[in-house]
Amino acid sequence: MTFEPNILSFCCNWCSYAGADLAGVSRFQYPPNIRIIRVMCSGRIEPAFILEALKNGADGVLVTGCHIGDCHYIEGNKNAEIRINNTKKALEKLGLDKRLRLEWVSASEGARFAEVVRDFTEEIKKLGQNPVKEVKINE
Ligand code: FES
Repeated sequence: MTFEPNILSFCCNWCSYAGADLAGVSRFQYPPNIRIIRVMCSGRIEPAFILEALKNGADGVLVTGCHIGDCHYIEGNKNAEIRINNTKKALEKLGLDKRLRLEWVSASEGARFAEVVRDFTEEIKKLGQNPVKEVKINE
């Protein structure tokens, strides 16, 4: 049986969620492995959200937001970039850093959103199952 990863994506409301929507409306094909959580800004993503996702079974976490200069909250995406880079450094110690990716996707980049999802899904498939997925007792 081939490994099908569970990927969680946080998309900012103003750009990347609209880009994901455009990908769907335009019928750009991308793998069904992704589940999207809409947030108002990529700057809203806390490291704890990412750790919780990995602990609870996500094989990969994709954070997307507006391109630098386009954030509706001015500096939210710059703050997100700092946070995600710091989180990646922390995850490096656990060998999990490649399971986290940050990408900028605008509302008009439906094709780019689909491409990012395809590429990240392939990368996670190569990495295999998340080794720190919480083992649930009595399941
Ligand atoms: Fe999109 Fe801030 S509003 S990244």
